[in-house]
Amino acid sequence: MTTTNNPQAEPAVAREGWSPAASAELYRIDEWGMGFFSVGENGHLMVNLDGNPDHMIDLHEVVLGLEERGISVPVNIGFPDLLAARMREMASAFSTAIAENGYRGSYTAVYPIKVNQHRSLVRKIEVYGREHGFGLEVGSKPELLAVMGLTVDHPDRLIICNGFKEERYLNHIMLATKLGRHVVAVVESLAELELLLDAARAYSVRPRVGVRLKLDALASGRWQGSTGEKAKFGLSIPGVLDVVGLLRQAGMLDCLELLHCHMGSQLSDIQVINSGLQELTRVYADLNKMGANLSYLDVGGGIGVDYDGSQTNWDFSANYGLEEYAATVVYRIMAVCDEAGVAHPTIVTEAGRAMVCHHSVLVSNVLGVSRLDRHALTDEQATAELAQGKHPRIVRDVLEALLSVRPDHLLESYHDALQARQEALTRFSVGLISLEQRGLVDRVFWSTCIRISALARDLDPIPEELLELEQKLSDTYFCNLSVFQSLPDSWAIDQVFPIMPIHRLDEEPVRRATLADITCDSDGKIDRFIQHEDVATVLPLHQVRDGEPYYIAVFLVGAYQETLGDLHNLFGDTNLVHIRYDDDEGWYVDEVVDGDTIGEVLGYLQYDVRELSGAIRRDCESSVRAKRLTAAESRTLLAAYDAGLTGYTYLESS
Ligand SMILES: Cc1ncc(COP(=O)(O)O)c(C=O)c1O
Repeated sequence: MTTTNNPQAEPAVAREGWSPAASAELYRIDEWGMGFFSVGENGHLMVNLDGNPDHMIDLHEVVLGLEERGISVPVNIGFPDLLAARMREMASAFSTAIAENGYRGSYTAVYPIKVNQHRSLVRKIEVYGREHGFGLEVGSKPELLAVMGLTVDHPDRLIICNGFKEERYLNHIMLATKLGRHVVAVVESLAELELLLDAARAYSVRPRVGVRLKLDALASGRWQGSTGEKAKFGLSIPGVLDVVGLLRQAGMLDCLELLHCHMGSQLSDIQVINSGLQELTRVYADLNKMGANLSYLDVGGGIGVDYDGSQTNWDFSANYGLEEYAATVVYRIMAVCDEAGVAHPTIVTEAGRAMVCHHSVLVSNVLGVSRLDRHALTDEQATAELAQGKHPRIVRDVLEALLSVRPDHLLESYHDALQARQEALTRFSVGLISLEQRGLVDRVFWSTCIRISALARDLDPIPEELLELEQKLSDTYFCNLSVFQSLPDSWAIDQVFPIMPIHRLDEEPVRRATLADITCDSDGKIDRFIQHEDVATVLPLHQVRDGEPYYIAVFLVGAYQETLGDLHNLFGDTNLVHIRYDDDEGWYVDEVVDGDTIGEVLGYLQYDVRELSGAIRRDCESSVRAKRLTAAESRTLLAAYDAGLTGYTYLESS
């Protein structure tokens, strides 16, 4: 993967005639938006819930409406209808593939709740999944306990239990089975199977058993460690055969109903999926020929999301869509089973990312901007400085480097400027030039770089050093969010997400910026943005206008983000809302889950809010006695302290 600059040249001022369509193209919205997102004629980001152009939701209007209701940014805005649409698309892709191929088995999906365990989301998946017969997948005791509670009224839904299991986890599975849940315990080792058989005997349960296979075919991309001999989960073929042997010995081979594998997340290449399926289905077919009673073939998760919209096998893209995926899975399983003379299984997918990613958008506001060109010098100013004749030679050299930038020798001009500045810095450190002169040197140097960078955009190719210059010169937009809490994958695995403003899209975005969050951590930044099969290091943004909020949104954040986030600097969960549409009312707030208050995050770390408040009250009293604080000040500031404890952890507008 290479890192290049953004292809758009930056004009000094917004060009006349810029259009919402130009913004749509610039931010590649048609490529990654899958028809769910577009730019309206008013220059606002629009969300299209169901393909009906009359049902568009203006995201900017929603954010303003939420602010009016006291639900401030940063806010995670979920659109349950987009979730329902993705689930429908998944079901329909498989029913089409099944019908077209004459497949004689069926299909179901289970949603792996670890992808986003938020109750409001899992509940909706449970409800929307009813019409498609979709179930849920869990990977731990807490996840199972949550799912057992959510499926009381619909015990028939398939529940797949993955993950490491000890006696207590297995006892929960026994209870779930006795309560009528359709639960399959997927074993990862022989020891786990032995424990499962003990629990089954103890509670007189005939459990539904699955076995997880370690595929030999290696996946590609970031999660390739999920398959192969050294994979963390699953059993190799000898291990699977041991499972069959032990079950047969226990007279319970008929309990083995499911064969499972997971090739990794964000599988970007359909060919890799195809070869993994071939191996998996071969094992399925042979196990059944050996007398097993398998009827489910669980192909795991991993359906890729096209974050950059390039439709390629790049890490953050996928070279296939849901329909091709379904067609490949159905065809491959059918071909292998037919060849082996084995009945077609019920196909199970555990896709999480592809199901929930699109429904959620994170919106934040820009708090401030740091710009290097704030102190830039014009030619007239530089000439006037030179004319004064008061500067030492090295300062004059730096000024001359600015005035003599040559379009046909840009790299050389850049090297001259670097050299002159380095020399000036050395002289400053030994006291040969003053602080004011050092300040002038910096201003002139950055002015030179800005000029060189602007001229370099006409070069083809642009020299590497000058490419890097664009990022060095970019603005920093400080955003009201914590990358660690809301976009952990951006920090941990360099994930790129589509990011763009949600308004002013009828104006040309003339600035180039990286984003910084409000944590006190230099890693709390975003300097990787989507570009076709590549990463851009700067994002085009508008100049922020005084006294006017500027909102930026990060898209496709429904999977693996907020629920995986941490409390860095004690910034907690953001506000979460679900927005829906009604023909009469237009958009409306369907559900609100308030973000963490400061008191709550302190509580997570064992601080007692009453104790804190009491201690500060006593402290104020002593300060009043010592006359450092008046009684009136004490009352106001103490009230603010207490209000702070129930306030939002992010910056709030007053
Ligand atoms: C066993 C299992 N199933 C399903 C998934 C979901 O994967 P994805 O969200 O990429 O579809 C995972 C995640 O890595 C997993 O480990």
